[in-house]
Amino acid sequence: MKKFNVNIEIYFGEDSLSKLSEITDKKVFIVTDSFMEKSGVANKISKRLNNCKVSIFSEIVPDPSIEIVTKGVDIILKEKPEVIIAIGGGSAIDAAKAIVDFARKVGNLSNVQFIAIPTTSGTGSEVTSFSVITDNEKGVKYPLVSDDLLPNIAILDAELVKTAPDFITADTGMDVITHGLEAYVSKNATDFSDALAEKALILAFEYLPKAYKNGQDLIAREKMHTASCLAGIAFNQASLGINHSIAHVLGGKFHIPHGRANAILLPYVIDYNADIVSYDTRDFTLSAKKYCHIAKLIGLSANNIRMGVKNLISEIKQMQKTMKLPVTLKAAGVDLDSLKLLKDEIARIAMEDVCTISNPKAPTKEDILRILERVRG
Ligand SMILES: NC(=O)c1ccc[n+]([C@@H]2O[C@H](COP(=O)([O-])OP(=O)(O)OC[C@H]3O[C@@H](n4cnc5c(N)ncnc54)[C@H](O)[C@@H]3O)[C@@H](O)[C@H]2O)c1
Ligand SMILES: [Zn+2]
Repeated sequence: MKKFNVNIEIYFGEDSLSKLSEITDKKVFIVTDSFMEKSGVANKISKRLNNCKVSIFSEIVPDPSIEIVTKGVDIILKEKPEVIIAIGGGSAIDAAKAIVDFARKVGNLSNVQFIAIPTTSGTGSEVTSFSVITDNEKGVKYPLVSDDLLPNIAILDAELVKTAPDFITADTGMDVITHGLEAYVSKNATDFSDALAEKALILAFEYLPKAYKNGQDLIAREKMHTASCLAGIAFNQASLGINHSIAHVLGGKFHIPHGRANAILLPYVIDYNADIVSYDTRDFTLSAKKYCHIAKLIGLSANNIRMGVKNLISEIKQMQKTMKLPVTLKAAGVDLDSLKLLKDEIARIAMEDVCTISNPKAPTKEDILRILERVRG
């Protein structure tokens, strides 16, 4: 038996922030990063609330650490808010998820309402049961997975993404494409998750280049916000694969932005999963067939499966080039001597990552090492 459940209210489109005016006479705690506070976004959102007492915790940084979560929990246990609002990219929403979960479990705050307002179109964290927290001492990112982490409400207002500079649009947009593709070929994929992944990928391949080129293009921003959320629902059901397993370790060790690490790996993970070894149609893997189907859906020539997979990989490489993304770890600033020293540990940790279980092809440590070799630069 399988289950499909989207246990979250999603508000989207023009002026979706007006949902906040329903919150009246409450103690509200906002979890965000310093950019969102300094740029006035946190204040703008507070003003939408109706006669609420608001406090702001704006210490979230990319790849939020256990220490930041602990600090947030300490404050929240003193403040005892009735509503918690996470505003920001995946880092702010993930940190808030962990903070809320602790507060609910140990702080007698079981009724606290949790609202997520994403400001990047990337992680889909506003609709997922995942929270990725970093242990800086060990240099490891831990994906926590529990339905208890799911926000009650997600508000998708694309106006908030307009301030994202082009390189953040590129990094986070490639995360959406990686989510869509990994969910689509996952061992746990179903017709339900496939439908969401397909639509997310159609939107992302069309609108990411537009949002990158002109960050003020509200239609492109809206479509990417939708794509990010749809891909989030898809992978929340189907889970992800080794692209994310390896990216999590690279993020923990070298602090490469999450979407950028995913983008570097993606062409090689597709090649690995597609596993095209012969010209005989009967030998093609389900993943190769599915990648080819996506190639067709996004308008690439895909007269046969081999061509479809090849063109999908080329399209991704072309997007990386257009958006000036580094295509190797070296170009992303990784010190190759450190990589050489750490590569066995990276492969071992990636093998243990929760996302590896649902990868369509069960990898060996040597497979991961070979992928690392191909992206090293
Ligand atoms: N929970 C999940 O399901 C899930 C899935 C994938 C990734 N993640 C995690 O999410 C994190 C990455 O999140 P992210 O890619 O959204 O980036 P992020 O939240 O780390 O933000 C990156 C940078 O963008 C800035 N920023 C965000 N929105 C902006 C805006 N509108 N205008 C200007 N600047 C803006 C932030 O201040 C920050 O400096 C990683 O830790 C990753 O592992 C979580
Ligand atoms: Zn991701």
